[in-house]
Amino acid sequence: MTLKSTTPIATSRRTFLKASTLAASALALRHSTLLAQSGPHTDASIEILPAETIGTISPEIYSHFIEHLGGVIYDGVWVGEGSKIPNQHGIRTAFIDAMRAVQAPVLRWPGGCFADSYDWRDGIGPRDKRAARAAFWGQQDSNEYGLHEFMRTCRAIGAKPYLAANLRTLPARDFYQEIEYCNAPAGNLPSNSAAKPAPDALAAQRAANGDPEPFNVDLWGVGNESWGCGGNLTPEEYAAMFRRFTAWTPSYGKDPLRFVAVGPNGDDTDWTRRLFHALYQNPERRHLWGLSIHYYTSGSPSQFAAGDALNFNSDDFYDLLTRGSIMERVVTDHWTAMGNTPGQPQVKLVVDEWGAWYGKGTELGPNYNLSQQSTMRDALLTGITLDIFQRHADKVAVANVAQSINCIHSLMLAQEDKFTLTPTFHVFQMYLPHRGAQAVRTEFTTPTIENPLANAPIPVGGNSYTGSLDAVKTLAGLSGSASISPTNPKLLTLTVVNPHLDRPITTDIAIRGASIASASATVLASNDVHDHNDFAHPNAVHPNPATTAQPTAGKLLHTFPPASVTTFQLTLF
Ligand code: AHR
Repeated sequence: MTLKSTTPIATSRRTFLKASTLAASALALRHSTLLAQSGPHTDASIEILPAETIGTISPEIYSHFIEHLGGVIYDGVWVGEGSKIPNQHGIRTAFIDAMRAVQAPVLRWPGGCFADSYDWRDGIGPRDKRAARAAFWGQQDSNEYGLHEFMRTCRAIGAKPYLAANLRTLPARDFYQEIEYCNAPAGNLPSNSAAKPAPDALAAQRAANGDPEPFNVDLWGVGNESWGCGGNLTPEEYAAMFRRFTAWTPSYGKDPLRFVAVGPNGDDTDWTRRLFHALYQNPERRHLWGLSIHYYTSGSPSQFAAGDALNFNSDDFYDLLTRGSIMERVVTDHWTAMGNTPGQPQVKLVVDEWGAWYGKGTELGPNYNLSQQSTMRDALLTGITLDIFQRHADKVAVANVAQSINCIHSLMLAQEDKFTLTPTFHVFQMYLPHRGAQAVRTEFTTPTIENPLANAPIPVGGNSYTGSLDAVKTLAGLSGSASISPTNPKLLTLTVVNPHLDRPITTDIAIRGASIASASATVLASNDVHDHNDFAHPNAVHPNPATTAQPTAGKLLHTFPPASVTTFQLTLF
């Protein structure tokens, strides 16, 4: 593995060995037992425990997010019906195809911070009559892409819509009416209304605007980042608004709507505790389905102002992955802070913004605010993050990567007629077999890696980890998750990330109480962690079938290449 590094690799190896020695001593007994059993040299072991189930992995943890920001909507998703760029009713065909290829379950829109200054009425009706408006991110929004275009995008992809409602600049009445516009059957009024359907009822307006059938939106974000761009509110102030927006809101369907409350900034558990306390003071709390969490990873840069998507050394590399792994802590800490009572309907976690967020420098162009390149390093972070969600399948119900195209941790980059998939796209595709499967506990026994920048100042900015430095000291030397197929109890999926820059990790893989009959694997790896796809080289990084030995005595011996993501399909007997 080559590295454009200001830190010699030898230094990171020495650091690694020091860390390994310390961490390995704690694991020595168990590890040496496994080594003695397995015969050939191994660096690590993985044991899957099929009897120890965690929960069904919600397919919605592989969800997406698009915002009116930079080149996400205009150019990324929406090219317009008259465009020479291949499109379906104005939506970029390549975007639709890629989202279908990863079976995108849910698409969140219109923001982000944009949502709290957006009036949904600006984006309905004949397109040529819609007024342009100044919008949150400093761009003029033509409003060509609105509610109907978004719903058409969801239909083309096969995704469910997830709308973020404006809580900061529109009153609750507009929220009620947005729900009515989206969900009321044409010509009908809510069942609790005594009035006769009016010709200007919102469902009739929707039909006149081209969609007689209701959109049936069941997932609603009630505001966005209300502690910041969504209004600078305290948890108590937000709780009162949440109740006012969601109480007695008709769903127009047989099931209640899934309302998602604005959660914390990163690891701010104080917000969560106070919000739940304030919400639960009122017995009418049944409206709360999920708590939104936003957690972005910014490394603690050794040399670049806010970390750089392409220029990083080995220290930056390990630091970013270590800080990304904190997602596990963010999930468990907020779960505890929510204080879900056993036996009561559980409020789920909705991690509706996550990803690695770097400083300026790799934008596609001046109007592509927050677009950034995406390397193998980001692919590893994607694997680490999805594995965390899978290991916490009992807690995380929905997660939306930020953002699907042309922004932060993207799966796609597009500029006019140019388009490429990123390494992150490939990881999403490699993790497909986990959807709807039963997550099971899996033990990874391997020395940890010391974070060389553990003591560096914590990056300033929203949505990142600001807790104890102890949490950013070490990175798991190998991590992953396993699940049992929903249709075949003898079929397991195992995903594994090897974050070592320069060390292949030879690993014993075993199943407690069962034997591996056969194995096949796919791997995403590259010669250099800086490798990425761009418009000139859209296929520079792509997955390949992995060479894996067939099992012996029911176990598998496999060597994970440095800086790789691997998916196994294991059949048992
Ligand atoms: O994803 C970019 C921005 O990050 C979103 O608009 C906001 O919610 C978050 O701070």
